[in-house]
Amino acid sequence: MAAGRDFKPKLVGFLCNWCCYAGADLAGVSRFQYPDNIRIIRLMCSGRVDPEFVIRAFARGADGVFIGGCWLGECHYVTEGNYDAMSMMHLCRWLLEKVGIEPQRLRLEWVSASEGIRFSEVVADFTRQLQAWGPLGRGEGIDAEILALRLEAVRRLLPFVKLVERERLRVRFRTEQEYQEYFHSAETRRLLEELVAERLQLSQLAVLLERQPRTLAELAGQLRQSPAQVSRHLNLSLQQGLVKYDEDGHRYALA
Ligand code: FES
Repeated sequence: MAAGRDFKPKLVGFLCNWCCYAGADLAGVSRFQYPDNIRIIRLMCSGRVDPEFVIRAFARGADGVFIGGCWLGECHYVTEGNYDAMSMMHLCRWLLEKVGIEPQRLRLEWVSASEGIRFSEVVADFTRQLQAWGPLGRGEGIDAEILALRLEAVRRLLPFVKLVERERLRVRFRTEQEYQEYFHSAETRRLLEELVAERLQLSQLAVLLERQPRTLAELAGQLRQSPAQVSRHLNLSLQQGLVKYDEDGHRYALA
C-alpha cells in the first residue's frame, strides 16, 4: 500500500559515535537538508546494535530502522563490529520477512565523519522508500494487534536466534557481497528454516494463547494461516507439553 508523501514515517537511527553520528552532526552544522523524522540513538559501534533494539524500535512504532556505521575496514575497534552488524542485519531481515514485514525497513549504511551530505541523502532516500511502503503493518496489510503479536513473538525468540547465530552462522567475510550471498544461500536459508522458523510459529502461538484460550479456527484467523498449518504446530506443542486443551475440550490454552 503506497501512503504517499503526506505520510511522515517515524525513523529510528542507531549511529556509531565515531563515524555516522559525526556525519549526522556535520550534516546539521552544514545545514544540509534532510527530513526531521529521524530519532537518533548514539552507540559506540554499529556492532553494538542488538537485534532486540531493532525489534523493540519497530514494536514501539518505528516505520523504519537505520543503522549507521563506519565504512568497512574503518571500525574503531579491533573486533570490527561493523562486520557483526551485517550479520545481525541479515538475520533481523530474515525474521521480519518471516512475520510478513518488509525486510528493507531495516537499513544499514556506512557514513564517515566527513560525509554529512551522504548522511542527509541516505535519510532522505530511506524516508522516500518508507513513504512508498506506508506505515509499518498497514503497509503490509497487517492490523495493529497482529503486528504487535508477531513482533512480540520475534522478540521472545531472540535469545535463541542469537545462540543459533553464534553456534551455527558466525562467519567473517570481507565484503558486503559475501554476507549477502551467505545469508541468502540455500544452505543458510535451510538452516534457518530448520532451526528457527518452527520455533517462531510456536512463539506466536504462545503469545496468542497467553492472552486467552482459543479454538483452532480463532488461532488460524489470528495467525492468518490455514487450520492445517496451525494444527500441525498445536500438535507439536501438545506433545511437548507447552499447550493443553482447556476444560471444555474445544479450546487450546497454555499448559
Ligand atoms: Fe564505527 Fe565500529 S566504531 S562501526
